Amino acid sequence: MLMNLELSNRKQRRLAMEGKGLMLSLLFLLGVLATTSYCGNVTYDHRALVVDGKRRLLISGSIHYPRSTPDMWPDLIQKAKDGGLDVIETYVFWNLHEPTRGQYDFEGRKDLVKFVKTVAQAGLYVHLRIGPYACAEWNYGGFPLWLHFIPGIELRTDNEPFKAEMQRFMAKIVNIMQQEKLYASQGGPIILSQVENEYGNVASAYGSRGKSYVKWSAGMALSLDTGVPWVMCQQSDAPDPIINTCNGFYCDQFTPNSNNKPKIWTEDWSGWFLSFGGAVPFRPVEDLAFAVARFYQRGGTFQNYYMYHGGTNFGRTSGGPFITTSYDYDAPIDEYGLIRQPKWGHLRDLHKVIKLIEDTLLATDPTITSLGTNLEAAVYRTGSACAAFLANVGTQSDASVTFNGNSYNLPAWSVSILPDCKNVVFNTAKINSAATIPSLTRQSLKDNGDSLGSDWSWINEPVGISKDDAFSRVGLVEQINTTADKSDYLWYSLSIGIKGDEPFLDQTVLHVESLGHAFHVFINGKLVGSGIGNSANSNVKADIPVTLVRGKNTIDLLSLTVGLQNYGPFYDKVGAGITGPVKLNGKNGGSFDLSSQKWTYQIGLKGEELDLRSGISSRWISKSTLPKKQPLIWYKTTFDAPAGSNPVALDFLGLGKGEAWVNGQSIGRYWPAFIAFSNGCNEKCDYRGPYGSGKCRKNCGKPSQQLYHVPRSWLKPSGNTLVLFEEMGGDPTQISFATRQIQSLCAQVSETHPLPVDMWNSDSTAASNSGPVLSLKCPFPKQVISSITFASFGTPIGSCGGFSHGQCRNNMALSIVRKACVGSNSCSIEVSINKFGDPCQGVTKSLAVEASCT
Ligand code: GAL
Repeated sequence: MLMNLELSNRKQRRLAMEGKGLMLSLLFLLGVLATTSYCGNVTYDHRALVVDGKRRLLISGSIHYPRSTPDMWPDLIQKAKDGGLDVIETYVFWNLHEPTRGQYDFEGRKDLVKFVKTVAQAGLYVHLRIGPYACAEWNYGGFPLWLHFIPGIELRTDNEPFKAEMQRFMAKIVNIMQQEKLYASQGGPIILSQVENEYGNVASAYGSRGKSYVKWSAGMALSLDTGVPWVMCQQSDAPDPIINTCNGFYCDQFTPNSNNKPKIWTEDWSGWFLSFGGAVPFRPVEDLAFAVARFYQRGGTFQNYYMYHGGTNFGRTSGGPFITTSYDYDAPIDEYGLIRQPKWGHLRDLHKVIKLIEDTLLATDPTITSLGTNLEAAVYRTGSACAAFLANVGTQSDASVTFNGNSYNLPAWSVSILPDCKNVVFNTAKINSAATIPSLTRQSLKDNGDSLGSDWSWINEPVGISKDDAFSRVGLVEQINTTADKSDYLWYSLSIGIKGDEPFLDQTVLHVESLGHAFHVFINGKLVGSGIGNSANSNVKADIPVTLVRGKNTIDLLSLTVGLQNYGPFYDKVGAGITGPVKLNGKNGGSFDLSSQKWTYQIGLKGEELDLRSGISSRWISKSTLPKKQPLIWYKTTFDAPAGSNPVALDFLGLGKGEAWVNGQSIGRYWPAFIAFSNGCNEKCDYRGPYGSGKCRKNCGKPSQQLYHVPRSWLKPSGNTLVLFEEMGGDPTQISFATRQIQSLCAQVSETHPLPVDMWNSDSTAASNSGPVLSLKCPFPKQVISSITFASFGTPIGSCGGFSHGQCRNNMALSIVRKACVGSNSCSIEVSINKFGDPCQGVTKSLAVEASCT
C-alpha cells in the first residue's frame, strides 16, 4: 500500500537524519530513488500531518470554487491567507463537470485547475475533497442525475455499475491534477484528499454492502497514487492508512481510530445554511473560537472552517430541497466577499496565537488536568518551552482558577491561551479585533425611477401544455424520473367534462397530494391556489376550492422542484411531483379520483425551450401596460451597473418566486415571497453553551432571502439584460440595487497589547518590534482610505460607529493618522508614545481609529 510505503520511508528518513550510519543512509536514498515517482512529501504520524519532513499544525477553510467567480477567487484566497489560513478546502462537484455522461466541462466557475493554481499562487495548500459524493447543500449531493438512470445502479454502496462510474470520475480528477503537477508529491499545493463524505452517518442503512463499499472506496482511492494522504470524514472504520476525521460544531472529544493517525477536523461549521422559509442562522464568534481553541487544546492538529466563504448557489445548483440561493453560512468572509467582522478578525487573532506555539504543540501530547468542575488545563511542555490552554466549559459562571501558582479569571464557555504557560494573550470570549459597519446603498434599477415600468418588456408563459414534446400517460408520474432534472418544472394537465347534474359543478374542492416540492393549480387557465412544502417536510397536501363550469374544464398543475435532496441514506431515490391522489371532493360528499386518468405532461417551460433566459428573442412585448401580480410571466429589462467596485445585489422584494438571469447567466432561484417563520429568533443569542443549527437565528417574519448577488464580473458598465421568470406573480418595477460596502473600518489597539494587532492582514507583524501596531486595510484592492472620521490616542471610549475622546487625548492623533492612511489601500501605525507623545503619564493609552474606504 502506498501509505505504508510512505510511512516507512518517513521512518527511514528520520533514522537517517539521526545519523544512524552510512548503511542506513544509503538504504534510505535507495528507498527515495525507488519511490520518487509516487512517493510524496506529505505523510502523517500520531501528532500531525508531516509536510516536507515537518509536522504542521494547519488551519484550513472551505471555499467552494463554483460558489463565486474566478474573478473573486484571488481576493477571497488572499483574505483567507490574511485571516491566518494555511489550507483551502473544496469539494469537487461531479454534476458540474460531467452534466452529460462522458462530456466534461471545466470552464469559468468550473475551472478547478485554475482555482487550485490560484490557491497555490497565494502560497496556501489545498485539501481536495473529491468524494465524489459531496452533500454540501448542493443539488443531488453533487451526483449527476444520469447516474440514477444507469441500469442496475445503486448509489453509494457495493454495486458494480456505481463503483465503475465513481472510479472513472475520481481517476479523471486525479489525472487532471497530476497532469498539472498539483499534488504536493509533485511540488503542487494539494496535501490531502477526501474519498466519500460522511458515509459513516448513513452506512448502517446499507448493511454489509455498505461495509464492503467503504473498504473498496479506500482501496480504490489509494490505487490512484496521489502521493498524499486520504481522509474519510465521519468514518470511524476508515481502513488504514486512510485517516478518519471529524465533522461537527465541536470536535475536541474526537479521537481517530488509530494512534498513528492525527486528530483532524474536516468540517467546523462556522454557521449554518439557510432554507427558503427559514430564518437566517448565525454562530457567535466567541463560541466558534471556543470550539477551535478546545480542539487544539486537546491535541487537534488540522481544523477546517466549513465554510470560510460560503458564497452563492448560482443557477439551479442548490440542493435541499429548499436551500436558498445564498450560501452565506455566516462565514468569516460573507457571501459578497467582504470580511465579516469581528468574526474574521477574532479568529485571525486566535490563529496567530496558535501559530506562535505551533512547534511546542506538535512536539508532544498535552497533559490534561482538572482545575475544578468544568475547568480544565492542558499543558504542552517540550524542553524549556511550555504552552497552556485554560478552559472553562461551564455555561453560566465565570471562574477564577489557580494555575502554576498564578490566578486567572476565566469567563464561562471560554479558553485562555498562555504561550509561555504564564501570560494570557488570548481569551476566546474577549474580542479585541477590529470592527466594521457594513451597509447597503439602495439605488433604483433605473436612474429615471422607472415607475411606469416603461422599460420592461414581457412574454406570457402559457398555462398548461404548449410544447410539441408533450406526452400522455395513464396515471400520475413521479417528477424526477420524468424530467431528469432538466428543468424545475413539470406540467400535469387534464381535461374533464362536467355535466349539469354532477356534484362537482360550480364550487368544489380539488385535493392534491405531492411528494414536493411545490405546485400551482390552474383551473381553466386561472391560478387558483398553490401547495408549498418546506425543508423539514417536502410532502404537500392541499385542498383548493375551485369553480368548475358545465362542459369542458382544464386542470393544469404546475409541479416544481426547489433543489434536489442532498443528504441521508438513499437520498438519491427520494421522489418529487404530484403522485396523488388528485381528486375532486364535491359539496355533498361525492368524490371523483382523477389519479388514474390519462394525463398530459410537459417537461419544462415554453420559455426555456425558446431560451428566453438570454433575453434574445423577437417575442418580447413592450407596447401595452406591463402586467403585474400575474403568474407565469417572463420579464426583461436593461440596466446600467451601479458605479464603483462594491459588490452588487438585486433586491427582489415585490417579486414572488422564480429564477433570474443577468446577461444570460443565472443568478439563481429567487423567492422573496417565502417569509421566514415569525418566532424563535434571538439576535442577541447567548454564545455560552453548546451551539446547534437552530440556536441562533435572525430575520424572523421577513423574506428568508431578499437580496440576490450579481457578481461584478457578469456586469458591463451599461446595457445589461435582466430576465426574470416569475411563477406566482410579482411587480418587477419594485426591484432595486443594493450595493454592499463597508461603511466604516475601526480598530482600537492598546499600547500594552501583548501581540501586535492589525486589522486586516498580518503584514505589519514583522515591522512591529517596537510595540503594537494598528493597521487598516480597505476590503478591496482597488479601494483607498478616503477619510479618517475619528482618531484618538489616549483613553478613547465607545465602539465602532460611536467612538468619542476620553479624558486623556493627544491633539495630534487625527492628523498623524490622516497623514499615514488617507489615499492608501492600507496603512499601519505604531501605537506608542514615541509616535504620539504622552498625553497622560502613568495611564495605559490606546489608539482608536474609524476610517472610510471608497
Ligand atoms: C455535512 C456535510 C457537508 C454539509 C454540512 C452542512 O454533514 O458533510 O457537505 O452538508 O453537513 O452544511
